[in-house]
Amino acid sequence: MMEDKQKELDRQKIYRQYGLDSKKIPQHVAIIMDGNGRWARKRFLPRTAGHKAGSEALRTIIKTSVELNIKYLTVYVFSTENWKRSQIEVDFLMNLLKTLIIREIPTLNKNGARVRFLGALGDLPKDVQKNISIAEKETAHNQILNLNLMVNYGGRREMIDAVAKFLEQSKGEKQELTEEVFNECLYTRGMPDPDILVRTGGDVRISNYLLWQIAYSELFFLDTLWPDFGREELIQIVQQFQKRDRRFGGVK
Ligand code: IPE
Ligand code: IPE
Ligand code: MG
Repeated sequence: MMEDKQKELDRQKIYRQYGLDSKKIPQHVAIIMDGNGRWARKRFLPRTAGHKAGSEALRTIIKTSVELNIKYLTVYVFSTENWKRSQIEVDFLMNLLKTLIIREIPTLNKNGARVRFLGALGDLPKDVQKNISIAEKETAHNQILNLNLMVNYGGRREMIDAVAKFLEQSKGEKQELTEEVFNECLYTRGMPDPDILVRTGGDVRISNYLLWQIAYSELFFLDTLWPDFGREELIQIVQQFQKRDRRFGGVK
């Protein structure tokens, strides 16, 4: 309890320091973590070194999200299209994922982060699937931050899976398909839509990410390469977000 109080005081201090409005902290931040390969190339390193550095940037962002009281952090780890890369790169990414999700469990628990893996998980290597179950189970009790790692994720695939789920659950009887019903069929069921979508790496596109959920998200495209994205960058985005006028189709 004492610890919670201290955390809250620290949080108020950060809000004051950065001029953030505690009532307008985004609930859900989604990130397309792009630019690992280019980060490595600039340093004459193999692309895999960029992924390693990228995983460290993610650790920082998890911590900063907890500091700021962001409740949902949804990051694009591997897309349904990323299988097109070289066998070496795909194997490296799968191995990194497999190792890190176990190694990071103590830190996730320390941060109060509950990790979920969303995507077409059945197509992942069996040993990766096994570690995914372990990490989800071992962090299931945490309530401070919901961390969604999107793995073998595609927005189109998610929608197709949602339609299949809907048809399965309405088998025989007629059920009306509403936005609410569809939401409950998505991988992200029960979660609020992202308030913010960030893409690092300089490209201005969505690359099949969260196509349904970002209907009214505030978009941020940064030239910063993902391994260079840190605490200050996330805080700056939240500052800018708080200045934006969200109308959701209405008039203010
Ligand atoms: C994002 O960085 C990480 C993954 C897609 C796994 P990239 O690997 O796409 O890096 P760039 O875009 O080639 O620089
Ligand atoms: C999007 O980045 C996927 C992830 C960050 C995991 P890509 O590098 O795969 O996207 P494109 O190919 O530039 O559109
Ligand atoms: Mg890329």
